[in-house]
Amino acid sequence: MIIPMANILTGEELELIVDSLQEAEFVDGKLTAGWYAQKVKNNTQLKNDAHQTQELRDVVSAALKRSSLFQIAARPKAMRPIIFSRYQEGMYYGTHVDNAIMGKEKLMRSDLSFTLFLSDPTTYTGGELVIESTQGEQAFKLEAGSLILYPSTTLHRVEPVTAGERLAAISWIQSLIRETGDREILFDLDTVCNSLSQQSSTTTEFDLLSKSIANLLRKWAEV
Ligand code: NI
Repeated sequence: MIIPMANILTGEELELIVDSLQEAEFVDGKLTAGWYAQKVKNNTQLKNDAHQTQELRDVVSAALKRSSLFQIAARPKAMRPIIFSRYQEGMYYGTHVDNAIMGKEKLMRSDLSFTLFLSDPTTYTGGELVIESTQGEQAFKLEAGSLILYPSTTLHRVEPVTAGERLAAISWIQSLIRETGDREILFDLDTVCNSLSQQSSTTTEFDLLSKSIANLLRKWAEV
């Protein structure tokens, strides 16, 4: 499933992040790419030890935690430190697949990738995130503050930015539910369950659905 999520950040959070990034020091994105991706990666990213980095990571992490849509779509077990990337005119990230295993001392498997768009899409040209699937290619250029969650198993790229500047926050998640199909079943059931829970009184159907979700989680979750 490729899931766009609108308004992950509030206007205040977005402003704080973008303002802070204007002052920040960026370094060559090749420093954190795997050997294969290095060949096609041409962008910059916020320096890992810049004084702004931790605060900005915390703002994004808190926004992801409070989004129930993100939580039921990703079911995160672990997440890599968030990277703030910047593409200026002429920069791009060619077709690649993300590393399957990430981290140095503490390893994790990447199941899901996300891009949180930070720049107003009318302020830059190009810079679409293009994801390849069996149905063909899909291009995404979302509103600032909106996020796209997609399987790390895909080939994807960022089209060259031909004018303006594209800022984004990206990271990778190891999900409690390894299989995409299983995650989708739980996502659909949870969506129905949430909708039923809006109704005034609980019903036997709601109870049985809740029980099934809990038992499927017991069956599939890697904790
Ligand atoms: Ni990637």
